[in-house]
Amino acid sequence: MNIKIDSKFLKSFFPENTLTKNLEKSISKRELLHNKKGAGSEFLGWVDLPSQIKDSDLKNIQETADEINSNSEYLVVIGIGGSYLGARAMIEANVNSFHMVENHKNKKTKILYAGHHLDPDYHNDLLDFLQDKEFSVNVISKSGTTTEPALAFRSLLALTEKKYGKENLKKRIFSTTDAKKGALKKLSDEYELKTFVIPDDVGGRYSVLTPVGLIPIAASGISISEFVKGARNMQNFLANEKDPINNLSCYYAALRNTLYDSGRKIEIMVNYNPKMHYFTEWWKQLFGESEGKDKRGIFPAGVDFTSDLHSMGQYIQDGERQIFETVLNITAPNRDSIIQEFAGDPDGLNYIAGKKLSYIGEQAIKGTKLAHYEGGVPNIEISIPKISPEVCGELVYFYEYACGISGYMLGVNPFDQPGVEDYKNNMFALLGKKGYEEMKVKVEGKLKGLI
Ligand code: PA5
Repeated sequence: MNIKIDSKFLKSFFPENTLTKNLEKSISKRELLHNKKGAGSEFLGWVDLPSQIKDSDLKNIQETADEINSNSEYLVVIGIGGSYLGARAMIEANVNSFHMVENHKNKKTKILYAGHHLDPDYHNDLLDFLQDKEFSVNVISKSGTTTEPALAFRSLLALTEKKYGKENLKKRIFSTTDAKKGALKKLSDEYELKTFVIPDDVGGRYSVLTPVGLIPIAASGISISEFVKGARNMQNFLANEKDPINNLSCYYAALRNTLYDSGRKIEIMVNYNPKMHYFTEWWKQLFGESEGKDKRGIFPAGVDFTSDLHSMGQYIQDGERQIFETVLNITAPNRDSIIQEFAGDPDGLNYIAGKKLSYIGEQAIKGTKLAHYEGGVPNIEISIPKISPEVCGELVYFYEYACGISGYMLGVNPFDQPGVEDYKNNMFALLGKKGYEEMKVKVEGKLKGLI
C-alpha cells in the first residue's frame, strides 16, 4: 500500500497498555463492517463498493463526462455535504493549481460549485458569470429534497432552459439521486434527464466512489479508473489484513481513540499542500458527521501549513492541550524545483541554494512536528508518496474504513446524522413550510426570548 503511518511522535502521551487494548478493540469493531451486526448496518454498501463497480458503470460515467467535455467549458456541480465534498476534494487535489484561470483551449471542463450554501451574492455572481459561457449542470442530492441544492437547481434549470431551450436540457443537465424517491427524481423524470443512482445503502459522506463523485471527477479530466483502482487495492488490503498494527485503518482508529481516551478531544488534520485543502474538508465531514454524537466524539479541525503556521501555529504550539495533530505528508511532489543562487546573496538564502524546494518543505515538516511534540501536541503522520488519482483512491477508502471502525470504537452509529435535522426543522418552521405551523410558533417564541 502507498499509505504509511508513523506514530513515533506519540511517545509518552499515553500508557502502552491503553493502545494495546484499543488495537484489540479496533479489530473486533472492524468485524462489524463485514458481518453487518453494528449500528447503521443498512448503510454499509460502501464497504464492498470499489470491487463492485463494473467496467460498464465506469464507461457510462465516462461517456457522460466526454459529452460534457465536448460542449461545456464549465460544469456546475450542485450539491452540499457528502453530495459535493468528495468530488471537490479529488478534483482540487489532482488538477493544475491554476486550472480555473487557464485558457480553456484543449483543456478539460472546469468545475464550479453551487447549492452548498445560501449566499445570494455568490448565487448572483455565478448566474452572471454563466450568462455567456458554455456550461452543463450535474445536480446531486440523495434525498432529492435538500433546500440549498434544490434552490440552486431551480435557478440553474431556468438559466439552462433560457440559454439552450427546453429541447436541449437533456444534453446539458445530469442528475444524481435516489432510484425512486424525492423531488429531484420527480423533476429528472419530468424533464427526461439522464439520471444516475446513489445506492440506498451508501450514505452521502461515503458516496464519492458512486456517480456522486465519479461524474464530476471524470468531467474534470481525472482518471476514474485509476481512482477506483486505488480504492479497490485498499479495500482488498483492509479486508484481508487482520493484524491491527498492519491494518492501516485499525491502527489509525486505535491511535486516535487512545488519544481521545487520554483527553485529546480535537484532532487537527495538517496538510502541507494547498491542493489538499478540500481533502481536509471532506475528511472533516466524514469524521465529524460520523462521530459527533451522544455528546461524544473527536472534533475534526484542519489547517493548511505552512500558511497557517503564521496564523494558527501559535495556538497549536502553546494554547490549550486538548489537541492532537494528524499530519498528511506527501513525500514527493509531482514536479520539484531547485533553489537558485542569487548573486551577492541579498536575501541571505544562498545557504540553501542548490537544494530542492521539496527538501525545504521536508525540513519544515520535521521541524514543526518536533516543535509541536515538545510543546505537548502528539502527532500521527500519515504519508503518501505523491498525489495521484490512484493514491487518492487508496486514501479515500482508508479513511472511510477507519471512520467506520473508529465510530464503533467510540460507541456511536457512524452512519447516521440525526443532529443535522435540528437546524433544518427550525429553518422550515421559520420559513412557514407546510406542516411546521405549530413549530413556527414555538421557534419564534424561543427566539423572542433570546434576541
Ligand atoms: O453525509 C451526508 O449524509 C450528508 O452530508 C448529505 O450528503 C448532505 O446533507 C446532502 O444530502 P442530500 O444528498 O440528500 O442532498
